[in-house]
Amino acid sequence: RTVYVNGAYLPEGEAQVSIFDRGFLMADGVYEVTTVIDGKLIDFDGHLARLERSLGELDIANPMDRDQWLEVHRELVARNGLDQGMIYLQVTRGAPGDRDFVFPDPDTTAPTVVLFTQSNPALVDSPKAQRGIKVIAIDDLRWGRRDIKTVQLLYPSMGKMMAIRAGADDAWMVQDGTITEGTSNNAYIIKDGKIVTRALSNDILHGITRAAVLRFAREAQMPVEERSFTLEEAKAADEAFVTSASTFVMPVVDIDGAALGAGTPGPLAMRLREIYIEESR
Ligand code: PDD
Repeated sequence: RTVYVNGAYLPEGEAQVSIFDRGFLMADGVYEVTTVIDGKLIDFDGHLARLERSLGELDIANPMDRDQWLEVHRELVARNGLDQGMIYLQVTRGAPGDRDFVFPDPDTTAPTVVLFTQSNPALVDSPKAQRGIKVIAIDDLRWGRRDIKTVQLLYPSMGKMMAIRAGADDAWMVQDGTITEGTSNNAYIIKDGKIVTRALSNDILHGITRAAVLRFAREAQMPVEERSFTLEEAKAADEAFVTSASTFVMPVVDIDGAALGAGTPGPLAMRLREIYIEESR
């Protein structure tokens, strides 16, 4: 695999980043995941706009303009012959000489930029989507700025492990009795034909897939309510699903061991999945 690091295209085994990088020492950096279907980037401008916002919130200068970012994305797709999968992009505050809590001077310490591709031939025709996933509820113990897509993913990773150890696929996080989101996706329930998902705030990541799916749902005359919902409400829902760049619309069939509806992917979730894939590819 060819990867990109700080201006160079290199075989993955030759790419290097300093041990003093603040991404490594302090999780001081942000990332994006952009899906590729048939060699085409999905929602590139949305991901770039969010990258810009995440960097701005952390006072990291955006090291490239839109066309430069696009060029690197396209070059990696071409060099790796990527058909279906994703491009991972990470920008950290860079590597000053010493470990220090104070931000380094941006004139002397440049951000570190890393991009790589990851292939996933089962992205569109996903066996998991045909089956649906099981989730468990866990406390949301993350920091309060989940709207910034930082590389600080330890708790989401622990949540995913708690789910797997409990025989489920993923975890939904609960704060003050309501669901915030999944470990790496936005969460939705459907009751009496109405799609309910938490409103945007600092509590959740502003999903690029979320924005597209809600737009398609409204275009298809499906009612949408952006509000918080409780775990009890979720367990009593007709359907549930999650969205992310790497899963599109993924039906949820079980919450904390309670099957939703027939315990199989719901018809509206599956329809939204089809619409999303057709409209964005
Ligand atoms: N995760 N919420 C969280 C906490 C996420 O990490 C993600 C994305 C989303 C969905 O955002 P989008 O639709 O823009 O992908 C919501 C990515 C895919 C990841 O960490 O791999």
